[in-house]
Amino acid sequence: MKRRKFIENICLATGCVFAVGGLVACEKEEVSSTKVDFSIDLNDVQYADLQQIGGFIIHQNVVIARLDASQYVAATVVCSHEGQKQIRWVGDQWVCLAHLAAFDIRGVGLNKHGAKGLTIYQTSLVGNLLRVYQSI
Ligand code: FES
Repeated sequence: MKRRKFIENICLATGCVFAVGGLVACEKEEVSSTKVDFSIDLNDVQYADLQQIGGFIIHQNVVIARLDASQYVAATVVCSHEGQKQIRWVGDQWVCLAHLAAFDIRGVGLNKHGAKGLTIYQTSLVGNLLRVYQSI
């Protein structure tokens, strides 16, 4: 078996993808049934990017962004287009850096790559503790 065919077969079995002329490591996320429910302390220096409005962090495969003085939004980092972990908060929407899928604040797709929507999580702030969770 030729080397390229061998690699293609391995990638088909494991979920890798090919780019033009080369092999690219895939960041596909396996479908997980793990429920999102965690809290972060906004005073913790590792979340300093949330100190400014429009800032965001990624924690446990969730992107958390600050909307204003007291409102935060959260979404999965895994894009619904091809499963890459490249969702970011840009301006006032969720954008995947891989192929520029765009989603509104509620996770509704705004373009072709975003057609499947995006999983959005709930947030609640009590003191300096920000809880991120899935509503049932
Ligand atoms: S994987 Fe996100 S736009 Fe393609």
